[in-house]
Amino acid sequence: MMSHISEYSSLRRAAYVLDEQKLIANLKLIRRVRDEAGISIILALKGFAMWRMFPLVAKYLDGATASSLYEARLIHEEMGCNAHTYCAAYLDDEFDELSAISEHMVFNSVGQYLHFRDKLQASYPHISPGLRVNPGFSKVEVDMYNPTAPGSRLGIDADRLADGLPGGIEGLHFHALCENDSYDLEETLAAFEQRFGHLIPKVKWINMGGGHLMTRKGYDTDHLIRLLKAFKEKNNVDIILEPGSAIAWQTGDLVAHIVDIVDNHNIKTLMTDVSFTAHMPDTLEMPYRPMIEGTIQEDTPYRYRIGGTSCLSGDFMYEYNFEKEPAIGDQLVFKDMIHYTIVKTTMFNGVRHPDIYLLKQNGELVCQRRFTYEDYKNRMN
Ligand SMILES: Cc1ncc(COP(=O)(O)O)c(C=O)c1O
Repeated sequence: MMSHISEYSSLRRAAYVLDEQKLIANLKLIRRVRDEAGISIILALKGFAMWRMFPLVAKYLDGATASSLYEARLIHEEMGCNAHTYCAAYLDDEFDELSAISEHMVFNSVGQYLHFRDKLQASYPHISPGLRVNPGFSKVEVDMYNPTAPGSRLGIDADRLADGLPGGIEGLHFHALCENDSYDLEETLAAFEQRFGHLIPKVKWINMGGGHLMTRKGYDTDHLIRLLKAFKEKNNVDIILEPGSAIAWQTGDLVAHIVDIVDNHNIKTLMTDVSFTAHMPDTLEMPYRPMIEGTIQEDTPYRYRIGGTSCLSGDFMYEYNFEKEPAIGDQLVFKDMIHYTIVKTTMFNGVRHPDIYLLKQNGELVCQRRFTYEDYKNRMN
């Protein structure tokens, strides 16, 4: 495993470090898929919203998708374009502001579309409206991340659209994947076509959501390209993909430090300056076990739990085996901690939020943001 010890040695406080070169490599790969398949690919802000990188992202992708007014504003202000917007439920008192900075608006129910349709047609004719549908099929096994799970509130069921689409709808959207491959998309597309095939000739565009992890090693991008091209040719529609994870996949780390070592009931725990619940919430929510540099699968004499810095009892990871004996002051590098981390962090317990750094292509480490007490205080009142 490549070590970042020298690159990160100047960091004294916990920090997320985004590696610019790795981000560019992902963007180039995604751009190739876009060009060869003849589709649009936009960034899902929910997974990655480091807006200082938006001008770079905009060089390779076709814009971004928002799931709220604030995400749409960030796209508008920092990427310089209107958002492709989908909100699970649009709010009356935000709708005008949101419409003014969106280009597509996707509705989660026929009722919400009808509620806003007259306003859209009268005041925001530049917007192309769509409906989110539920393909009723997903390869995602964890219900927390499966929008098609029984009883899901996300997306319209096929039987509700048996009589066709309400007037004015120009697109369909489905999102049913999470860290999946193109073969999972192929199966999902078959389910989508089976349930909603009668509506496809009526629309101009189809948004196939996110979860396409095309930057993961081993992903068959050529198969993805063939699949999308064939779908596009057969149905004569524009295709949009809106991945989040794929853009920031393996583009950086969370660098932490060992602050103390406690030994209770024969369990040794490395106490750190980061928190799983506050800074890596998916490790507890998904849940998954993050990779830590310098640890291996096999047993070693250096077996330690990793303790988060909050007082939540479950804010820890079970034992890791270290190759070398860890010591107070050492750095702990949690791998692949850029997507779905910074966007989800909290200041629970008032724990210090990690800094955000950029590792530039020339090797320079630049601090982009340091969080302060005021950030914590201002959220509370
Ligand atoms: C509607 C929608 N689009 C896109 C995405 C991005 O998915 P991913 O980051 O897995 O590519 C999500 C993730 O939850 C989503 O809910």
